[in-house]
Amino acid sequence: MLIGKQVLDEKKIRSLIADIKKKKELGELGDDFVRERLFKYLQKNHKAAKFLLHTPSSKSSRYKSVVKAVRAELRTVTGLFQLEKGPAERQKLLAQLLKGAPALPTVAKLLQTHASTKERLPFYQELYSKLFTHTGLPQTVIDLGCGLNPFSIPYMTAGPLKYYAYDIAEGEIASLKKFFRWLHARNPAFVGSAGVLDLLHWAKLKESVDADICFLFKMTDVLDRGKGHKVTEAVIKSVPAQWVVVSFPILTMSGKRMNHPRRQWIELMCQRLFYKFYILVFNNEMFYVIRKSR
Ligand SMILES: C[S@@+](CC[C@H](N)C(=O)[O-])C[C@H]1O[C@@H](n2cnc3c(N)ncnc32)[C@H](O)[C@@H]1O
Repeated sequence: MLIGKQVLDEKKIRSLIADIKKKKELGELGDDFVRERLFKYLQKNHKAAKFLLHTPSSKSSRYKSVVKAVRAELRTVTGLFQLEKGPAERQKLLAQLLKGAPALPTVAKLLQTHASTKERLPFYQELYSKLFTHTGLPQTVIDLGCGLNPFSIPYMTAGPLKYYAYDIAEGEIASLKKFFRWLHARNPAFVGSAGVLDLLHWAKLKESVDADICFLFKMTDVLDRGKGHKVTEAVIKSVPAQWVVVSFPILTMSGKRMNHPRRQWIELMCQRLFYKFYILVFNNEMFYVIRKSR
């Protein structure tokens, strides 16, 4: 990386990335994703960048403050804060599943290791059944910022299914690849693919396969970060899917139900783009089921 006319060498960059990822909740992020945020931070903070050029010690307080600031930025960008149960628990459960532990109870425990999927556990089956009455049984699904959601596939009643899952968390993607192989072995009509994709580079979605449905569950805050809704809109428009299902929490952080959970901006966006939509409401989450093709 060039700072003025000098180069911050690769060894230093790698050690910064490794130090930034030492926090449990950030450990699964891809190196390239962390590198991009680090460079953005250093481009904005010249003093910190110059300091790193001349004082490499990772023990200095200014080095530590760069690590801290980039971690804070990563938590905001990704929505990743402290997880209830970490990746270690997930690895253990996945290994048990692959070795033949009872399928549904183990999948349920896996889904419980992340807040979003844990909350959905009581209504996953109902969600997919209601969803597919609107969309028809999908043959191809794209799940963007998927987190652990693909572990809920056993709750879907579906025919032959191709499932494409994307996230920036490399560890989760690796687990999903194993899970998809396991699902395929049990049911060859299922084919799954998981990959790392940063949705902030949403233009790449145009190269994606055509799908019947795209899931964008609890991603709008992560994508828009309080700055309008341009990124979410770009993702919805770019993804080559007939239907896009966008979900929002309807409980506040303190667990109270929101007075006005409907999101006016998404309804106005649909009107403007001539997209039809349906709404599904569950205990703690609402789903806009958006039909893009007319
Ligand atoms: C609130 S969780 C939602 C997970 C899943 N969609 C669900 O509702 O069960 C946010 C997810 O977005 C992922 N994420 C955050 N920033 C992202 C980005 N720029 N591109 C792709 N995924 C991202 C995180 O790794 C995390 O898995």
